[in-house]
Amino acid sequence: MLFSGILFLLLLSTVTAHPVAGGHPVSSSYYDDINNATYDNFSSKDKRFVKHYLEKLSKVTNSNSTSTCQRCVNELNIGKEAALKRLDLIPTIFTKWCKDNDIDKKKNCEMAYGRLTVNSSTTGADFGNMLSLMDPNSIDGEYYCYYKRKKACDLPETIDIDISSWWPEKLNNTVTPENSGETFNVLHISDHHLELHYTVGAEANCTDNGMCCTPHNDNDQKLPINWNTNSSTYNSLYSGSYYNNEGQYVLGSKLLNPFKSGGENQDQSVWQPSTIFGAYTCDSPEILVNSSLKSVADFQAKQNLSFDFALFTGDLVDHDELQYTNYADSIEEEELVFRDMKKWLKDIPVYSVMGNHDTFPYGQIAQESSGFNNKFTWNADLMAHLWSDNNWIDAGTAQEVLEHYCGFSVTTKHKNLKVITLNSNTYYQKNYYSYWNMTEPDTFGTLRWLVDELVESERKNQRVWIMAHIPFIDYDALPIPAKLYVKIIKRFSPSTIAGIFFGHTHQDQFSVLYASDGKELGDEVNFAWISQSVTPISKHNPGWRWYEVDKNSFNIMNSHNYFTKLNETFGNNGAEPKWEHLYDAREAYDPQHKWPSDAPLNATFWSKVAKEIGTSNATAQQYGIYSYRDSPYNPVCEEGDCYDYYCYTTSFTYESYYNCVDGNTRY
Ligand SMILES: *[C@@H]1O[C@H](CO)[C@@H](O)[C@H](O)[C@H]1NC(C)=O
Ligand SMILES: *[C@@H]1O[C@H](CO)[C@@H](O)[C@H](O)[C@H]1NC(C)=O
Ligand SMILES: *[C@@H]1O[C@H](CO)[C@@H](O)[C@H](O)[C@H]1NC(C)=O
Ligand SMILES: *[C@@H]1O[C@H](CO)[C@@H](O)[C@H](O)[C@H]1NC(C)=O
Ligand SMILES: *[C@@H]1O[C@H](CO)[C@@H](O)[C@H](O)[C@H]1NC(C)=O
Ligand SMILES: *[C@@H]1O[C@H](CO)[C@@H](O)[C@H](O)[C@H]1NC(C)=O
Ligand SMILES: *[C@@H]1O[C@H](CO)[C@@H](O)[C@H](O)[C@H]1NC(C)=O
Ligand SMILES: *[C@@H]1O[C@H](CO)[C@@H](O)[C@H](O)[C@H]1NC(C)=O
Ligand SMILES: *[C@@H]1O[C@H](CO)[C@@H](O)[C@H](O)[C@H]1NC(C)=O
Ligand SMILES: *[C@@H]1O[C@H](CO)[C@@H](O)[C@H](O)[C@H]1NC(C)=O
Ligand SMILES: *[C@@H]1O[C@H](CO)[C@@H](O)[C@H](O)[C@H]1NC(C)=O
Repeated sequence: MLFSGILFLLLLSTVTAHPVAGGHPVSSSYYDDINNATYDNFSSKDKRFVKHYLEKLSKVTNSNSTSTCQRCVNELNIGKEAALKRLDLIPTIFTKWCKDNDIDKKKNCEMAYGRLTVNSSTTGADFGNMLSLMDPNSIDGEYYCYYKRKKACDLPETIDIDISSWWPEKLNNTVTPENSGETFNVLHISDHHLELHYTVGAEANCTDNGMCCTPHNDNDQKLPINWNTNSSTYNSLYSGSYYNNEGQYVLGSKLLNPFKSGGENQDQSVWQPSTIFGAYTCDSPEILVNSSLKSVADFQAKQNLSFDFALFTGDLVDHDELQYTNYADSIEEEELVFRDMKKWLKDIPVYSVMGNHDTFPYGQIAQESSGFNNKFTWNADLMAHLWSDNNWIDAGTAQEVLEHYCGFSVTTKHKNLKVITLNSNTYYQKNYYSYWNMTEPDTFGTLRWLVDELVESERKNQRVWIMAHIPFIDYDALPIPAKLYVKIIKRFSPSTIAGIFFGHTHQDQFSVLYASDGKELGDEVNFAWISQSVTPISKHNPGWRWYEVDKNSFNIMNSHNYFTKLNETFGNNGAEPKWEHLYDAREAYDPQHKWPSDAPLNATFWSKVAKEIGTSNATAQQYGIYSYRDSPYNPVCEEGDCYDYYCYTTSFTYESYYNCVDGNTRY
């Protein structure tokens, strides 16, 4: 039986009853050791093999007679030759090659090419698998060398692949169904990024470019000797605070001297101690995840709101450095966030996608047809079990989860609305497997599946919402799949596709798709909602939103956005965060009520908002503030922070955005 629960129990047993386990000990010389130790134990034949390929690689890497692009491609060719003979030796060869030739920082060499362990997210095996699959002399090599080797090759021009045979011809003058005037509500939450190692009192102002607020990072400057440690700025320093199973907030024990002052304790001094609910430089402690979900429940009660279902657009797992990203924590973070959602949202079904962090090793997923997918099926198994155990999906849908890399389609309680979820790692530039066979449009089979689902819905006059983690406008979305998704969206808009939802950027954004590059008002085809994150990392206040949805057309009539001022929790003696309504889209972007109250917030509405952002600094500033949820780090348009807002909001793919800003991108 599919849901025997054995795997589930095994996995569940890794969940500790309480937050904050210590970091797994990973000694800094570990990868050196294992590579050397492994190497020392090699037979002389294997040693000769490694040496032979290292010499071949180094010769290419150090030759001056070729372009950086050709060198990179030549290296891939040598790697492929080696991979086809001895896949198992690729991590040893490439880790050494990377370090010996200063290809990257030592740590990055170890993470990118090192042998996989459960303790660290090393991708040498995936790199080897990719080598064995790819054709380095095709665009596979060029794309790889652009994205993964610091733009060694130019970005190839995006080829045009005709997939129109996948669908019946589009009917002319297709129209969207009429609004009924009656609405229901849907919750949208995103990017929780639970940090299991978040530690109250740890340095939030860390200087080593890693994850702050954890025991493994600090500030490289010692506190001045006379630093005033009697600051009330950070007094919410109660370790072990949590929400109990009844939903009550329980304060932990007060840390006595988190600043530790200068002098003899200098090495442990902390400039900005992490407080209970999080910091702008850090991922979410579990208590913040709970607080955000509790605020959803509280507003529901206060406003007599019910949600028919929830959308979760991915990223349960933290942004820890790859050496601290491990298998056990990744599973535990996935399980805990979904457990907490179930606890607070009760009977509301949550439809979820996997984010780029929600896998192990980080960012990787292999095609079924590659032969390497077995390594990743644990995740789809886990999701199928968790989601069906939570009663969010039924057994048939759980089966789809296994077949579509955690993606599925589900007819909602409104029979005429279907939700389709996609795993965006299938088009993620950091996934090695996406560099295989890049001229072949659909190695994962996801595009064809999506089209088949859309064709079926079109036939039934059913409307569809599509969800994925990474928006196509993001640098992380590979151009060829992005272009194909756009073709699909154009084909099935506006009549079938009624909504597109993403997360990933942590900002509250939108992105309009036009029929042509002119970005003319009236030429818009569809648009995407990009949800704000719960995690405060990269300077945002935690936030979430819900939508009012028409019961007949499934168009969205309004969005309501909530947030909490995280900085108010630093020095409030451990009091709970206060969550507030930030804005609703209709009132914020159409204060004069020019848009008919019975018209949906469709692509035309957002196209008008985008034009307004392009012509009015006040609107751009407002959009920027909402984007950051009014944090202390709001962008300042007068200082040039909003220069690309118009291009961002009027582009649907990174390529379109890139052309719009003339290469002057932010990323
Ligand atoms: C991996 O993590 C486990 C569990 O914390 C630990 O016992 C083991 O020593 C770690 N291995 C290495 C090589 O760091
Ligand atoms: C390649 O060029 C660099 C600097 O341009 C030079 O230092 C190096 O000696 C050259 N190597 C060879 C093998 O010619
Ligand atoms: C739609 O209109 C175009 C241009 O008028 C025409 O070429 C095409 O055949 C029409 N398609 C259908 C399905 O009627
Ligand atoms: C810390 O500051 C508070 C308020 O300014 C003051 O009442 C208290 O005496 C100070 N404590 C010490 C140890 O200086
Ligand atoms: C989060 O909420 C869950 C469910 O109520 C609870 O079991 C858990 O202890 C909470 N954790 C924290 C850190 O608040
Ligand atoms: C963060 O640390 C740096 C020293 O590394 C210091 O100059 C700066 O003032 C600190 N900022 C805060 C907010 O503590
Ligand atoms: C709450 O909303 C429901 C419909 O969703 C309605 O039946 C009920 O009367 C409302 N209760 C209050 C107190 O407004
Ligand atoms: C590319 O994909 C196609 C279709 O999946 C397959 O037939 C072909 O063998 C693949 N080519 C390579 C080089 O793997
Ligand atoms: C959006 O709705 C308005 C008003 O109903 C309509 O005129 C417009 O054509 C719609 N835009 C799109 C792209 O469907
Ligand atoms: C928190 O940040 C907001 C926005 O910058 C600011 O208005 C507020 O004064 C800050 N609160 C505290 C306690 O620093
Ligand atoms: C917006 O502000 C910038 C910088 O202050 C200024 O250069 C620009 O002219 C302003 N644009 C509009 C439309 O007001």
